[in-house]
Amino acid sequence: MKLLNLLLLAWIPLLSYAQWGDAKWIGTDVPTVYAPYLPQFRICWSIQLDQDSHSTTAAVLFGGNDPRLMDRNMNILDVENGQDESYIKVQLSADKHFLSVWRINYTAKDRRRGAPASSAEELLANFGCEMADIYATHEIAVACCLGTATLSFDGNELGRVELNPMGTGGDYICFPQLADIGYEMEAGQRATLWRTTVRNYRSPCHVLYEEATPVPIGMANKPVRMLTTPRRGSMPLLRRHFAIKDKRVSQATLTATARGIYHASINGQRVGNEYYAPGISQYNKTHYYQTYDVTPLLQSSNTLDVSLAEGWWAGGMTYSGGNWNYFGDQLAFIGRLLIRYADGDSTVITTQPGQWQVCSNSKVQYASMFQGEVYDNTAGVDSWQGAKEMTLEGHLPTEGGGTTPKVDDYSFFQLLPSTTSVGLFTTLTAQGVNEVRPHVYIYDMGQNMAGIPKITLTGLHKGQRLTFRYAEVLYPDLPAYSGKAGTMMLENIRAAMAQDIYIAHGDTSEEFIPEQTLHGYRYVEITGIDHPLPLDAVKGLVLSSIQQFTADFECSNPLVNRLWKNIQWSMLSNFISMPTDCPQRNERMGWSGDISVFSRTAVMMAQVDSFLRKHLQAMRDVQTAEGRMPDIAPIGGGFGGLLWGSAGITVPWECWLQYADRQLLAEHYDAMRAYIHYVDAHYFDRETGLLVQERQWGDLGDWLGLEDSRNDKTLLFEAYYIYDLDIMRQTALLLGKYDDAERYAKRLAERKLFFIDNYVDKATGTTIVSAAYAERKGQAIDTQGSYVLPLAFHIVEGDLRRKMTERLVATIQRENVTDQGVRCPPYSLMTGFITTAWISRVLSDNQRSDVAYRLLQQQDYPSWLYPVTQGATTIWERLNSYTHTAGFGGNNAMNSFNHYSFGAVGQWLVNRCLGIERDERQPGYRHFFLRPEADPTGQMTYAKGHLDTPYGRIESRWTVKSDGTVAYAFVIPEGTTATLLLPGKAPRELSAGRHELP
Ligand code: BGC
Repeated sequence: MKLLNLLLLAWIPLLSYAQWGDAKWIGTDVPTVYAPYLPQFRICWSIQLDQDSHSTTAAVLFGGNDPRLMDRNMNILDVENGQDESYIKVQLSADKHFLSVWRINYTAKDRRRGAPASSAEELLANFGCEMADIYATHEIAVACCLGTATLSFDGNELGRVELNPMGTGGDYICFPQLADIGYEMEAGQRATLWRTTVRNYRSPCHVLYEEATPVPIGMANKPVRMLTTPRRGSMPLLRRHFAIKDKRVSQATLTATARGIYHASINGQRVGNEYYAPGISQYNKTHYYQTYDVTPLLQSSNTLDVSLAEGWWAGGMTYSGGNWNYFGDQLAFIGRLLIRYADGDSTVITTQPGQWQVCSNSKVQYASMFQGEVYDNTAGVDSWQGAKEMTLEGHLPTEGGGTTPKVDDYSFFQLLPSTTSVGLFTTLTAQGVNEVRPHVYIYDMGQNMAGIPKITLTGLHKGQRLTFRYAEVLYPDLPAYSGKAGTMMLENIRAAMAQDIYIAHGDTSEEFIPEQTLHGYRYVEITGIDHPLPLDAVKGLVLSSIQQFTADFECSNPLVNRLWKNIQWSMLSNFISMPTDCPQRNERMGWSGDISVFSRTAVMMAQVDSFLRKHLQAMRDVQTAEGRMPDIAPIGGGFGGLLWGSAGITVPWECWLQYADRQLLAEHYDAMRAYIHYVDAHYFDRETGLLVQERQWGDLGDWLGLEDSRNDKTLLFEAYYIYDLDIMRQTALLLGKYDDAERYAKRLAERKLFFIDNYVDKATGTTIVSAAYAERKGQAIDTQGSYVLPLAFHIVEGDLRRKMTERLVATIQRENVTDQGVRCPPYSLMTGFITTAWISRVLSDNQRSDVAYRLLQQQDYPSWLYPVTQGATTIWERLNSYTHTAGFGGNNAMNSFNHYSFGAVGQWLVNRCLGIERDERQPGYRHFFLRPEADPTGQMTYAKGHLDTPYGRIESRWTVKSDGTVAYAFVIPEGTTATLLLPGKAPRELSAGRHELP
C-alpha cells in the first residue's frame, strides 16, 4: 500500500470519528471459516515422502464430503455419496514427476470408489513437476476460485484445471467448496504432512486455517484416507454490559455502523427495525452510519449485543469469485451510546476494546448475502474474549485498477449519516406445500419476492438439522428435465449457495429468521423434518428500501393489472439498499443500464429521492478520474458503456423532474460534466466522427433485444448521447451555468444533424447502418429500437418524424424474426432493455396510442403479457425466461425471474394510460398535465389510478360508456393546477378539486 494511504488510514479515523468520542472499530481477529460454503481459497500443503520406505506417492484432498453430494435431493449430478466418498484429489507421483488432479464422485460419471485407477473420467489433469530431490519437503498449492483451480508445485505455477462439473466460471452452481480437507495414501506409502494452510483467495490472502503440527501419514498394510472439516469461529457477537445511573433518562441514542452488516439489541430487544445496516456503499469512499433512539429499551442494568455478518463488506460479491471479501477480510463495529438524564447529566459508552467482549461461538455460525445463514441454536454462545481494535491496515485488498477502483484508497473517505434503510414491507404466508420426494417439502409463497423466511418450528429434537433452499421456479414436467419435475430449479441462482441451515434447540416452539442473509425466491424447500409444517408456519418477510408505493393502477384487463403488480414486486425486490439488476443470483449489482431505463417508472412508483441520491453518490465514488461513469455502482467494473453510464445523467434528471430537488442536481453536476467530457475525449472515431465507444464486446446495445444483432449500436449510443446533451443543456441552465448551457446546446444541434445524416434515409425515414459497420454501410436497419430512440429524444422533427413514426409502426405491425430465427407475430415487442423503456411513449407522442395499446395487450411471445400468461409474478430478465412448452429454453443460468428493466413500461401506464404527466418546465408537480387516452382499440374499457405528489394525491379515471363515449374523472390536489389535454379537444386549465367529464 502506498505510504500516503497508510498515513491516511491512520489519520482519517481520528478526524472523521471525532464526534464519536473515543469509539474504536472493534471485533475479533479470529476468522470465520465455514468450509462447506467457501468457494474461493488457497490451500497449500508441505509434504515430504518417506525415504526409508521408498515411498513415491501421496495425495492431498479438499472439497470432501460436500453435503450437497451426499444427498441425491441436493444436486442434479445424480450422486449420493457416503462419508469420505467424494473429494478432489491432488496426487504427487514423485517417481514419474507428475502432479495429477482427480475429481472423485462429484458426478455419476466420475469413477466410483474401487473402480480401476485408469478410469478416464476422474482424471482431470496431469501436470509435469520437476524435482531435484524427491525426498525433500515439497509444497503443493491450489488456488481455487469458483471451480477454477491453479496448481503450483514448489512455488512454480503448473497450470489450471476446471474442477466444476456444472460448468466453468461464476454462471454455475459452484463445486467444489473448500469443504473437508485431508490426505490419501496407498498401502505401503508413507509421508509427513508438515503443514496445511488455507488462505483467502483475494489479497491480503490471510490465513483462515492452519494445521502446523507435523502429521506422519500412511500405513504399511492398507490404504488410508482421512478427511476433516476445517472450522473456526462464528459470526462475531459483541457484548457490553452496563448500568445506568439511578435517575430518569430523558433520551438515549445509539450511533453505530459496521464494516459488514450489524444488528444491535439491548436486553434482547431489537434496536431499530432496519435490516442490513449500514447498507451498501463504496465503503472506502462513503460509509453511512445509523442513529437510533433506544430510550425505551434501557433498564437499570443492561446488555448491549451487536451481531456482525459479512453483508456487502466481505464474502461473495458480483459474479466473480475473485471479488470475495471485496472491501476487506475483517468485520468490525463502531458505536457510541449517549444516555442523557433529565437533570442534564449524561453517560457515554463507546466501543472500547477493553470494555467489550466478543464471542466466536455465537449461534450465527456463518451468514453471508449470497451463501445463506447457518444458525446453530445449540451453540454455547461461549468462547468470549476481549474485543480487539480492528484497523484496516493489512486487511485491505490491493487488487483493482481500470474501471474497478482500488478499495485500499481511502483518500476521499467520508462518514455520513444514513438517509435510507431496508425494512419490512409485508409478510407473506405460504400458499401451498408439496412433498416432492420423501421428506422433501417445497412451500410456495405464491409470489416471487426478496427477503428472508420466518419459520415457526415445533416439536424438534435438540440438534435436529434443517436445510432451507430457495428457488424462483421449479422444474416443469418436460422431457428436458426428466426426473426433476417439481423440484427446485437452482441453476439460475448460479454460484450463490442461497441455502440456510438451522440446528434446533429442541424447545416446544422455536423460530428461525435468518436476518443476515438475503434470498430472492418464491419457493422454499425444507428438509430435515419428518412431517410438513403447517402453511402458516412458513412466512416470507418481504424486505425492501421501499416502504410504500406512491402510484397505483388498475384497468379492465386483468393481465395488465398483473403486469403492474409484477413491476411493483420487481421494484420492491431490487430496491434493497441499492438498485440491483436482480436479487437472487450471484450478481445483485447496481447495474447502471437497468436503473437508467427504469428510473422514470421508479420515481413515480415510490418516493425514492434519498435512495437514488445515495446511488448517485455511489456512482460518483466509482467514476474514474477521467470521468467515465461506472457500469456498476458501487463496486465498479462490469461492462456496458454509454447506454449504461448515461444513468449518471438520466437518473438525476428523473429525480429533478419528479421531486424538483435542485440540490441533487447541483451536487452531481460536476460528475455529469466530467462524463460528457470523457465521452467526447474517448468514444469518438476521429475519421468518421461516429460515436463508436470502446469497440469491445462490452459495448452493449439494446441488451436482450430480440433483433439487436440487426442494430447499428452506434445509432443507439449517438441517440443517448444526444439525450444526455439535452439534459446537460437544461441542467446547466437551471444551475446558472450559462457558458456550459450554450456549449451543450451547440453540440446538441450539431449531433442531431450528424445523426440524421448518418443514420436516416431522409426520403423514407428508414434507419440505416453507418460507416461503423463498413460491410453493411447504408443498408436498412429498420428495427423497432432504431426508431424509438431518435423519436423519444426529439432528434427528428417535422416530416421526418412523421416518416419515422410510420416506419416504427410498420415494424410493429409486421411479422418479425428474432436473431435466433423465431418467427414473431405482428405487434411483437422486439426491443431490448434500452428501447423498451421508450417505445410506448413514442407511439403515444406521435398519435399512435392505438399501436401502444395493442402492443401492451399482446399476449403472444414476445410481449409484456406473455410472461404473465406463463405465470410470472415479477418482471423477468427475458420475455421468455420460462414457457409452459419450452421450459427455460436452454437458458438455465442467465435467467433471472426478478429483473425490473422490462418493467419500464410502468411510466406509460401512469403518464399516458392514466395520463398523469409531469410538466417538465415546472417539475415536482406544481403544474402538470392530464392527458389520458382511452384505448382506441376498444380492448381496455376502463383505467383508474393515482400518483402521490408533494401536493397530495392526483387521481385519474376513464371509463368507456355503453354508447362508446368516454367519461373521465380527476382529482387535483390543493396547491397545484393541471392542463387537461384530451384527444381532439382544446386544452383546458383545471384547478384543485374533483372534476368529472363530460
Ligand atoms: C445483468 C443486467 C446488466 C447486464 C449488462 C447482466 O448480467 O443482470 O441486468 O445490465 O448484465 O449486460
